[in-house]
This record gives sequence, structure tokens and C-alpha cells, in this order.
Amino acid sequence: MVVLLANPTAARRPYRAPLASLFAVALLATSAGCAGGLDDPDRFTGGTGSACATSTTATGILQAQCFACHSTSSKEIGAGLDLEATGLPGRLYTTTSSSTCSSVPMANSADPANSLFLKKLTSNPGCGTRMPQGAALSDAETACLKEWLVNGKPSSP
Ligand code: HEC
Repeated sequence: MVVLLANPTAARRPYRAPLASLFAVALLATSAGCAGGLDDPDRFTGGTGSACATSTTATGILQAQCFACHSTSSKEIGAGLDLEATGLPGRLYTTTSSSTCSSVPMANSADPANSLFLKKLTSNPGCGTRMPQGAALSDAETACLKEWLVNGKPSSP
């Protein structure tokens, strides 16, 4: 949109301006409210989807609540799960859990909403303890991570 409006030829040809702005508005209208669309960059990066509270991102939650034990630099990586290294959330679909958690994929490509990763955030984690260990995420944080994981499913994990 910025490119269109900054186009110097548009100034010399004013009759083009209304058409250009109409196009920009149409672009905005079609991209807004299209969370998880193919052209949505958040789908594979930070995750600022509609389920996330204002100015909250999935990576921000992981950083604040999980990196202490699940990052490249944490002293001890819980169950060997690194949530800081690149490739999330897609990497979770090809990462296998510890034997304590039955060596299944962290994220279930057949049914992403029922992934081990999300189950571990609940009061009934199925294996080991609820994450983050010694605390609990708010419902809003859990919903944000759920949307991030579900929308981030690679097309062929
Ligand atoms: C205080 C340290 C600590 C924090 C904080 C923490 N974890 Fe963990 N995590 C562990 C330990 C230790 C284990 C292995 C024991 C268990 O599963 O209870 C683990 C296991 C896991 C597992 C299962 C891994 C496997 O293969 O068995 C998942 C998934 C997980 N954590 C996700 C998270 C998420 C997501 C967060 C943040 C919301 C988080 N953890 C925060 C220490 C932590």
C-alpha cells in the first residue's frame, strides 16, 4: 500500500489516484481477519493470531514461560525439548517426545488441537507434570499457543 501511494507517477496522473487507493483498501479488506492464510507471515513465525491477547505473541509466551528450562541456553533442557531454536511451530510436528511421554510426535498432524504439546499445558498432562513446571498458563495464553500450533502445521510434516 505504501508503495502504491508513494508512486511518483500517481501524482502526475491524478486520475489514477482514486483507483490506486481503492485497490489498497480492497487489499486491506481481504487481508484483514484472514488469520492463518497462506500469505500470513505469523503462521510460521511469532504467532499474533486472533486468539492471542493484544500485544501478546506465541513466541513471547514461550520466552517468558518456557525458555528458563527449554532453551538452547537454559542450564538443563527439560526432556531435551528446545523451544528457542528456529523452526517452530512446524518443528514440533517432527519432534518426538521422551519415552516418558510415549515417544509420540509433540504435535499431532492428524489432529493438531489434540497434540501432546498442548496437553502438557493442562491439568491433565498425561505424562510428567503440567507445563510450565510449577506454574500454569492463563486460558488466554493457552488459547494463543493452541492457535499458533494448529495454524503452524506444515503442509507435509
Ligand atoms: C521449571 C522448568 C520448566 C519450565 C518453566 C517449563 N518446562 Fe516443560 N519440561 C520441564 C521438564 C523437567 C520436563 C520433563 C518432565 C515432565 O515432562 O514433566 C518438561 C517436559 C516438557 C514437555 C514434554 C517433553 C517430553 O518429550 O516428554 C513439553 C511438551 C513441555 N515441557 C513444554 C513446556 C512448555 C510449552 C513450557 C512453557 C509454557 C514449559 N514446558 C515450561 C521443565 C520445564
